[in-house]
Amino acid sequence: MQRINIAIDGYSGCGKSSTAKVVAARLGYTFIDSGAMYRAVTHYFQTHNIRLDDVGEVEKALGDIEIDFVFKSQSKQYETLLNKQNVEQVIRSMKISEDVSQVAAIKEVRAAMVRKQQKMGEEKGVVMDGRDIGSVVFPNAELKIFMKADSKVRAKRRQEELKAKGEEVPLVDIVRNFEDRDLRDTTRKESPLVQVADAVVMDTSNMAFEEQVQKVLNLAIGKINQKH
Ligand code: DC
Repeated sequence: MQRINIAIDGYSGCGKSSTAKVVAARLGYTFIDSGAMYRAVTHYFQTHNIRLDDVGEVEKALGDIEIDFVFKSQSKQYETLLNKQNVEQVIRSMKISEDVSQVAAIKEVRAAMVRKQQKMGEEKGVVMDGRDIGSVVFPNAELKIFMKADSKVRAKRRQEELKAKGEEVPLVDIVRNFEDRDLRDTTRKESPLVQVADAVVMDTSNMAFEEQVQKVLNLAIGKINQKH
């Protein structure tokens, strides 16, 4: 059976990664959370005090960064590795969320990440979520989804996720962070978040999780069948 690439873009906290993860598992595809890569870079920059306006320093740091994803079959969880260290938990914290959009706006950072992402998709069979997947990383992806949702609904969901991990964050802080990031992500010069013409738009505000998964799966199966 022919494999396709699926690009899921959209605003922060719409459920892109959770949906992409389950869709990939059900299709037997590889899930790639491109946001985790920008988060891992942000973690490295924070811990090494990299100055974001110093191109030389940024480029040197990027050369020292290796990012991998591993799937732990026991816990059925994906882990993000930064230079072989598991950073999956730390990159989801508010400390990273506060800085990640600024790091992701740096041209050199984007070029390095996009190169890695395109390599991961060469063999097809990839479900990747992010902001520029359908526009820049896989402009020829067979299926493109653009997700959006009401910012209060998104914030409530994220608050629950953070709480489950032991981080209590007031709702207003999460709403503010989403709004700041959405603004930065949509207005930056380097590959901003855009809704491409051939994307299927999904508003997940009133959708149950399984409904989101089924919708993407049905679209994917339609595209896979078209290839035969
Ligand atoms: O998907 P996320 O919220 O974990 O992404 C974190 C940040 O990384 C987000 O604010 C914007 C940036 N990002 C990006 O610029 N391009 C991508 N393909 C993925 C994420």
